[in-house]
Amino acid sequence: MSAISNITSALSSLRCHLYRFVCTAAVVLTALLTCGCEKNDAQVPTYVVAMEATFPPYEFYRGNEIVGIDVDILNEIGRRKGVKFKLEDMAFDSIITAVQTGKVDLVVSGLTVTEDRKRMVDFTRPYSGARQVIIVPKGAPEYKPEDLRKIRVGVQHGSSGDAYVTENICEPERFTNGALAVSAMNAGKLDAVVLDNAPAENHVAGSPNLTILPNALAEEEYAMALRKGNTQLLNMLNAALMELEADGTLKAIIDRHMRDNKPEETAVADSMMGRLVDDFKTDFIKNNRWKYLIDGFIVTIEIAAAAAIMGIALGFLIAVVRSTADLTGRLRVLDWFCRLYLTVVRGTPIVVQLLIIYFVIFGAFDISKVLVAIVAFGLNSAAYVAEIIRSGIMSVDRGQMEAGRSLGLSYGCTMRSVILPQAFKNVLPALGNEFIVLLKETSICGYIALQDLTKGGDIIRSQTYDAFLPLFAVALIYLSLVMLLSHLLKKLELRLKKNER
Ligand code: ARG
Repeated sequence: MSAISNITSALSSLRCHLYRFVCTAAVVLTALLTCGCEKNDAQVPTYVVAMEATFPPYEFYRGNEIVGIDVDILNEIGRRKGVKFKLEDMAFDSIITAVQTGKVDLVVSGLTVTEDRKRMVDFTRPYSGARQVIIVPKGAPEYKPEDLRKIRVGVQHGSSGDAYVTENICEPERFTNGALAVSAMNAGKLDAVVLDNAPAENHVAGSPNLTILPNALAEEEYAMALRKGNTQLLNMLNAALMELEADGTLKAIIDRHMRDNKPEETAVADSMMGRLVDDFKTDFIKNNRWKYLIDGFIVTIEIAAAAAIMGIALGFLIAVVRSTADLTGRLRVLDWFCRLYLTVVRGTPIVVQLLIIYFVIFGAFDISKVLVAIVAFGLNSAAYVAEIIRSGIMSVDRGQMEAGRSLGLSYGCTMRSVILPQAFKNVLPALGNEFIVLLKETSICGYIALQDLTKGGDIIRSQTYDAFLPLFAVALIYLSLVMLLSHLLKKLELRLKKNER
């Protein structure tokens, strides 16, 4: 019964993704028209909240839903003040930028108040205390802060723990979240992890070989962060927090979560095979975690397919402009712009382009991330496709153009019906290669917190602390996709060859 309901829900999620894919164009328009406005039902003010949801018990995934202390506090504030909060899971090191650039309205993410951050954002009154603690394998010596200099220390990138260790002790190894640092320590790659006490306790409860050292490194306070000068929202939040504190709601929420602050139980088998089966169950079956992979897979396909189409269309145009300029000396100005475009796109890393498009170009627009990714990868791929097609056009014998023209065909007509079909056939393998690269490149979407296939695997890893199976599954899915793509391309190539005879 539950299998059937799983399948039905997977199908309905597939349908919903397809629908989203078809609507992409419509979304651009609406987003452009409605940017900056707060869309909501019946005029309920809605605020976008950034958080990094691998931080139990403050924010973490239960099934596909983000839950935790921060979420409960927001819900309570929303209920009392008649507002809504829309949660957005983000890479932690992007969270302050997101609120500064107006991408989100506030950060509620177990965020520590620090002097450095105060220069960038405004903080509400603190709503919770915390400590930076040291997690070590059981049996490790009781390190003093200065001892950390001699060992391998892991932290969450961009966290206050990272700042503390970097400024006062040593250069740590930085992970996208605390859970990944802990799994690196479980795999023997680190000697200690510096982390906030509450998630540390959660992770340790889930890893029988770890323990927390009694002495904390630093005392801290958590507060919500807003863009500087957003006084209206700041006042509302402060008033609400004060109320929650006064009537005991805040303490009740925190106490309740701290009480069940541990990952779900998992049985530990003793044989190698038994452990693998257990891990498989925890990684994929339990809590329907396989859905992260399926949903991520669909997002990956959506982005790669739409970006490939955009890349071909734009790349093709650029290639035609460039070769026309090369062959006839016309379109000089356009050609100059195209070359500039190619230089910039090919000269900068795709991650940087993705971040610029997300935070700077679409910074002020409330636009779907899938769309941002499609635009970023489409623009990037176009540059490579353009050069591939241009090399195809240039590889067609010059005599072909002359022959077409001497038959009385126009330049455009010769290009369309004589040169391009031959060029296309010549470049098919190179184009195929470009699509394969594109498909795998989309794995960096996690940088803008898009839940693609790779990120799906990451979320599972952060929940189960198992690196092996989730990474292996993700790799296997990419590999199958690439093999399928290569197979289809080979078929197309064969068919084109047959037509030649
Ligand atoms: N308290 C630390 C900081 O502010 C870590 C917070 C991490 N939060 C999270 N949701 N991952 O830097």
